[in-house]
Amino acid sequence: MTVLPFWALLPIALRFVTAFPPQEPLLPTDSTPVASSGDSSNLPLVIWHGLGDNYKAEGLQSIGELLNDTIGNTTTYYIRLDDDPSADRTATFLGNVTLQVQKVCDDLASHPILSKAPAIDALGFSQGGQFLRAYVERCNNPRVENLVTFGSQHNGISEFQECVANDWLCQTWRGVLKGNAWGSFSQGRLVPAQYYRDPEDLDNYLEYSNLLADINNERKVKNDTYNQNMKKLGKFAMYMFAEDTTVVPKESAFFSEVNTTSEEVKRLQERDIYQEDWIGLRFLDEERRLEFKIAEGGHMQLSNNILTDAFNEYFKSQSKGGFD
Ligand SMILES: *[C@@H]1O[C@H](CO)[C@@H](O)[C@H](O)[C@H]1NC(C)=O
Ligand SMILES: *[C@@H]1O[C@H](CO)[C@@H](O)[C@H](O)[C@H]1NC(C)=O
Ligand SMILES: *[C@@H]1O[C@H](CO)[C@@H](O)[C@H](O)[C@H]1NC(C)=O
Ligand SMILES: *[C@@H]1O[C@H](CO)[C@@H](O)[C@H](O)[C@H]1NC(C)=O
Ligand SMILES: *[C@@H]1O[C@H](CO)[C@@H](O)[C@H](O)[C@H]1NC(C)=O
Repeated sequence: MTVLPFWALLPIALRFVTAFPPQEPLLPTDSTPVASSGDSSNLPLVIWHGLGDNYKAEGLQSIGELLNDTIGNTTTYYIRLDDDPSADRTATFLGNVTLQVQKVCDDLASHPILSKAPAIDALGFSQGGQFLRAYVERCNNPRVENLVTFGSQHNGISEFQECVANDWLCQTWRGVLKGNAWGSFSQGRLVPAQYYRDPEDLDNYLEYSNLLADINNERKVKNDTYNQNMKKLGKFAMYMFAEDTTVVPKESAFFSEVNTTSEEVKRLQERDIYQEDWIGLRFLDEERRLEFKIAEGGHMQLSNNILTDAFNEYFKSQSKGGFD
């Protein structure tokens, strides 16, 4: 019986901070010059952080600075499920993601700046990526123009890593989840359980998955709103970390399905979700608005270079509407 890797993802925040030590210069030496047009017309950017992180974390907040320095001053909103950073962090582990996404929908729709913008851009780190996609599919008000996700679990997670010795938190949840990934406690309260997907156990997944089976439109009855909203994206860029060993399988970042025994990778384009276009991915791909990008390194080992490239490509105002 498989249990969930949610403790495996615990070090994400730490790794993330490591990528942005305070003493490191914010601008990489090889970056392009700072944009200096007085009135930036970039769309506001919303960022949804990953498991174990919180919206006020230094590493995360430094993204806004890097963004301003790279493409000009831009309104950045860090998605949070609670104003208290510690409670916001807890909500990355515990909660019903249906309700979490709904809260974010309400927050963005009532935000004084975001709600009045013609559209927003969105950046999702790890699980924040598939949650932002849920936002697009279910709410999309304000509408997302470009969606960029780093190391996200778009096709779920199927395996877990062993607990480190003496990690009581890991051991505790491992005990809870063992044999009970599909119970209402797990699906209603444990966040990573809600994007757990074992290709060998699709029946339970389709019956009980509280988030992923729904937003991937994998059940018999499809929600056409999800499909239509995804088609409204200008660009959807998915980054996979080349050496990601935290997310199993890492190819989930590209919506690939990986056979848990043979490790054979079935690419998105070979899957029904694409061929029958359940959530607009085929449409976006054919319009050249779906992008598959590789990032060097392990899970969330972001370099300033990869971020500035992404900012220039997807969040700078000139790139809007350029559908090649
Ligand atoms: C960007 O914002 C900073 C801080 O608010 C301000 O000093 C600077 O003049 C702004 N730059 C532009 C180009 O508007
Ligand atoms: C970036 O620019 C925006 C818009 O002017 C400003 O509100 C924000 O404070 C700036 N962020 C940083 C970190 O300077
Ligand atoms: C489809 O999703 C939309 C947006 O979340 C929701 O309002 C609607 O009720 C859903 N339709 C069905 C048939 O579930
Ligand atoms: C999560 O919340 C939604 C909305 O309240 C509810 O319909 C659903 O049953 C909950 N899921 C679980 C597994 O408790
Ligand atoms: C995975 O591969 C094994 C061995 O090739 C095969 O027996 C099994 O049916 C495959 N599973 C799925 C879900 O395709």
